[in-house]
Amino acid sequence: MRIQTFEQYQEAYNQSVEDPEGFWAEIAQQFTWRKPWKKVLNWNFNEGVTKWFEGGELNITENALDRHLAERGEQSAIIWEPNDPDERSVEISYRVLHDRVCRFANVLKKHGVQKGDRVCIYLPMVPELAVAVLACARIGAIHSVVFGGFSAKSIADRINDAQCGMVITSDGAFRGPKVIPMKETVDDALEQCNSVKNVIVMARTRTPVSMLKGRDLWWEEEVKHVDSICPAEPMNAEDPLFILYTSGSTGKPKGVVHTCGGYMVYATYTFTNVFQYEPGEVHFCTADIGWITGHSYIVYGPLCSGATSLIFEGVPTFPDASRYWKIVEKHKVNILYTAPTAIRSLMGYGLHFVKDHDLSSLTKLGSVGEPINQEAWHWFKINIGRNICPLVDTWWQTETGGIMIAPLAGITPEKPSFATLPLPGVQPVLVDENGNVLEGNGVSGNLCIKFPWPGIIRTIYGDQLRNKQTYFSTYEGMYFTGDGCLRDEDGYYRITGRVDDVLNVSGHRIGTAEVENAINMHLGVVESAIVGYPHDIKGQGIYAFIITDQKPEDPEMFRKGIAATVSRIIGPIAKPDKIQFVSGLPKTRSGKIMRRILRKISEGQFDSLGDTSTLLDPAVVEEIKEGAL
Ligand code: WTA
Repeated sequence: MRIQTFEQYQEAYNQSVEDPEGFWAEIAQQFTWRKPWKKVLNWNFNEGVTKWFEGGELNITENALDRHLAERGEQSAIIWEPNDPDERSVEISYRVLHDRVCRFANVLKKHGVQKGDRVCIYLPMVPELAVAVLACARIGAIHSVVFGGFSAKSIADRINDAQCGMVITSDGAFRGPKVIPMKETVDDALEQCNSVKNVIVMARTRTPVSMLKGRDLWWEEEVKHVDSICPAEPMNAEDPLFILYTSGSTGKPKGVVHTCGGYMVYATYTFTNVFQYEPGEVHFCTADIGWITGHSYIVYGPLCSGATSLIFEGVPTFPDASRYWKIVEKHKVNILYTAPTAIRSLMGYGLHFVKDHDLSSLTKLGSVGEPINQEAWHWFKINIGRNICPLVDTWWQTETGGIMIAPLAGITPEKPSFATLPLPGVQPVLVDENGNVLEGNGVSGNLCIKFPWPGIIRTIYGDQLRNKQTYFSTYEGMYFTGDGCLRDEDGYYRITGRVDDVLNVSGHRIGTAEVENAINMHLGVVESAIVGYPHDIKGQGIYAFIITDQKPEDPEMFRKGIAATVSRIIGPIAKPDKIQFVSGLPKTRSGKIMRRILRKISEGQFDSLGDTSTLLDPAVVEEIKEGAL
């Protein structure tokens, strides 16, 4: 499955375009299937429908666990590094992980969870999170992991959308110096959900929590009373594996659905190739399992490849900014996969946090989630990668299931701030606003993909029409990514950022409409508009322009109140960085907010506001400029 030279890359790429079905069939054959597929690919982008390996049967946990037992049963599958460096880290072998997953799968079954049922998982970065995910997959239940930073309301919305019957959580979470309530947040969420029959609570912080008789169960108790044998449920390749909610430019978050066969093939293929994974290597992906990066490159990709995957519970700056480097040294990490926002933040603390740590185990570095600026790229490569580790800038999305455009570590010639070339099997195209395909090199446009790959989104849970409209209707016959992109003279791709109303704050996707809706719920707010502005560490910060019903008496207090409302409705990750009170917003005569102008003002580019003559009230622009923060 692994490509080893640039010539092989080119050959594989050509083969993947000439004979995509043959290309993917060859890769898929390397997995354990219960029943072979009847048809490799069935697709219709006009309808937003894609099916891979139809008729095939498998269980992803047999690929992630069982098939490794004979050869590497005693090898660590997971290394867990707790938040507090003084607490002992834990290593879990493939054999023990298999045992724990089977036990927990039996707990789920005992409480009535069946194939196709939805299970919400709201846990900190503890091994139990991976166990819970895999236990769902074992019995064919569809997991919906919700990132620990989301509010009770966000959890409730996600539980209700998917009609989850079970929630798995912990009493609390350790995050740097803080203890964060988890069960309590779930309890608040459940006041608005009636589909949930049981909550399983893992004890992490030993914080006292309310436990409702007949509904709430302790993880530790439950696993004592079940068998450690749990046969894997045979799944159709196109049965859903999980739902993961992500923000779009409009409305409520979308439940992106991935399926068992294609997702497994794609997550594993990309993991082995992009990181050039060698048996025995320790892989440390710093993302949270609550995001797609954690699903694909902490859990499924590495485990299906038989790798050792490191799960870190804490934050990069606790107890100080040397934490990642201490972890690398302590666990002899080989592959470090992180986000530009983390790199920029650690860069700011200075090199004395890096020096004195033995980073010689590192063989490969990776970056994901947002564009990486040249400075951060070089800092990472030189100071962490000793200028010898390949650095892969990987572009992809929740909807793509796995990495799409990236160098193969050590094989594809790198270019700072470029995701470089598409992986074999990925056919990117750039289109202009009118949908014309831009041929040749040295062009910029909107990034689309014209042919399916096995990891592509299958549907939005419960809303196939929205799937079709969001991704397959902007440009006919193509999947539209929402990203802008440059293809330079060498044919290298550089992702320039979202072209829709989606922000990327510290690598987290945030929809402007969602934040505006939350702000508008605050007492005294009449209307608001959100834009992203360049932020040194976060990549983008959130700038809010807000009209209030009367001039705020204590603006600072008002700002804090608005931030609290956003935290409560969405979660702390969506809090605005800057709030400017305005008396009006720049609108067209048809009432549309001209975000382009607000974006320029937030960037301080007052001279390049463009044509403002079509505005309903051009004077409002002058006022906003004067009050800009
Ligand atoms: C952005 C994260 C530039 C992009 C895996 C995309 C990137 C969105 C890169 C998806 C990269 C991700 N360079 N931009 N290497 N990787 N993005 O769904 O705008 O959380 O559309 O998936 O992040 O974010 P998501």
